[in-house]
Amino acid sequence: MKFTFPTAPSKKNLCVVPVLKLKSALVPLQKLLDSLKKDEDFEGKVGQTLYYNGAEGRVIFVGLGSDSESEKNLTTSSVMTAFGAATKKAMCHRAGEISIVVSAPLVDHAQALAEAVALAAYQPSRDYKTGEAQKKLAGHKIEVCELVVQDSSASKKVHAAAQRGHLIALAQNDVRDWVNAPPNKANPEFFEARAHEVAKASGAKLTILREKEITKLGMGMLIGVNRGSPDEPRLVILDYSPKNLTATEKKLAPIVLVGKGIIFDSGGYNLKPRGHIEDMQLDKAGASTVIRMIGLLPHLDIKRRVIAVAPITENLIGGKALKPSEILTSYSGKTVEITNTDGEGRLILGDAIAYAIDQYKPAALIDIATLTGACMIALGNRYAGLFGNNEKLGASLRDAGHEVDEELWPLPIHPDFGEKMKGTYADLRNADLGSERDAGASKGAAFLQEFVGETHWAHLDIAGPAFTSDPKKYEAKGATGFGLRVLVRYLEKA
Ligand code: BES
Ligand code: ZN
Ligand code: ZN
Repeated sequence: MKFTFPTAPSKKNLCVVPVLKLKSALVPLQKLLDSLKKDEDFEGKVGQTLYYNGAEGRVIFVGLGSDSESEKNLTTSSVMTAFGAATKKAMCHRAGEISIVVSAPLVDHAQALAEAVALAAYQPSRDYKTGEAQKKLAGHKIEVCELVVQDSSASKKVHAAAQRGHLIALAQNDVRDWVNAPPNKANPEFFEARAHEVAKASGAKLTILREKEITKLGMGMLIGVNRGSPDEPRLVILDYSPKNLTATEKKLAPIVLVGKGIIFDSGGYNLKPRGHIEDMQLDKAGASTVIRMIGLLPHLDIKRRVIAVAPITENLIGGKALKPSEILTSYSGKTVEITNTDGEGRLILGDAIAYAIDQYKPAALIDIATLTGACMIALGNRYAGLFGNNEKLGASLRDAGHEVDEELWPLPIHPDFGEKMKGTYADLRNADLGSERDAGASKGAAFLQEFVGETHWAHLDIAGPAFTSDPKKYEAKGATGFGLRVLVRYLEKA
């Protein structure tokens, strides 16, 4: 899809017209709106749409709110909901090319608007369907989106914001592609190739550690999880420094982003049952996010070195696979008793976190992972769990999330949860036996904390929102790319 910025909508295009408090942003269409809304229940609520095809051309009216406060209360969420819904509607009507009227109240939300359009236009299965189904998808594709700014003095600002939004959404759509991709396509080699592309596009320094080096470094937990897989594990590291940093900026310690990269989580010998195993290609969402994030950095105004670290492996069964009761020695030196092979995420992350802290002495480390089913049970798919050891970092992330409609909700790590993760024989255990499910997300976080020390740290458990069967208006079923926009907004302010 391409965004363009003409001064008037092209006649042939389907025109998306915002409606605030039942007022059409295009005044000449007010009569049409008034007559149409009589026949259909259009109340102008956020995300409500009304389609018209007649003498005035093709029009989708889209509600931005009906009550007296709605103009004041326009939020990222309401704007994204509205334009996500309008874009989907336009796709259903095979619009191909659309024009969106950017009325005055939308000027400050142009980035969110463009993000919503580009995210809503994403077609998850376009790479896999063939024949008629593929043709149908192609027919629904939106090729061009014109943004027509009503107040010409704001057009430059809208243009810049929309371009940014488009870039961010394209990155997020890549993350969705990678996460949706099944394990026979998105294997460790696939991620190597993506990491090379990101390095080339961004100028980041790429290091990929393989089995031999990972073993030599002593990452016994990553090696342990990998043993059931026919593919070698990888530790992908992308190290990005912006050009033209001042001497003071150069001295700032980097920010490290660590992402969980499980190609497929079968559960291992604690095999996942029917109903829980089917979508476990989603378990690489964290790694996909942090790797793709680096490719965006040259386009953002960030004055910091940022490093992405992604441990990548499958969690499978087989003669060599990890067994419950094994004891592994981690990179940090701490020993870990395996009480549940399905608690693999915390194992690979524990090694990646300890290594990254050792190697890069970051000012802050943020990990992002589809870590626990428990977090999904607690928060559903509209919130990610937010954990950590630093109030300020947590608050910045939470604010960033709210600003971009990727909400984070703080959850606690009680010292007693840490106690539950102590091993019977070894220093730690990877799952609390017996009461495994109680406070499962918090205990996962408590385990990770063992590898953090004093470094400022936040942990985002995205098990709920990373993959959805109940999409928001601008999402689709499957991978959402959740977390990318939070990290972008956070880094811009850090
Ligand atoms: N990848 C899963 C978590 C998950 C579940 C993500 C559902 C998305 C949707 C993770 O590796 C896992 O299996 N965690 C276990 C931990 C337990 C064994 C301590 C869980 O949540 O049950
Ligand atoms: Zn698991
Ligand atoms: Zn997992």
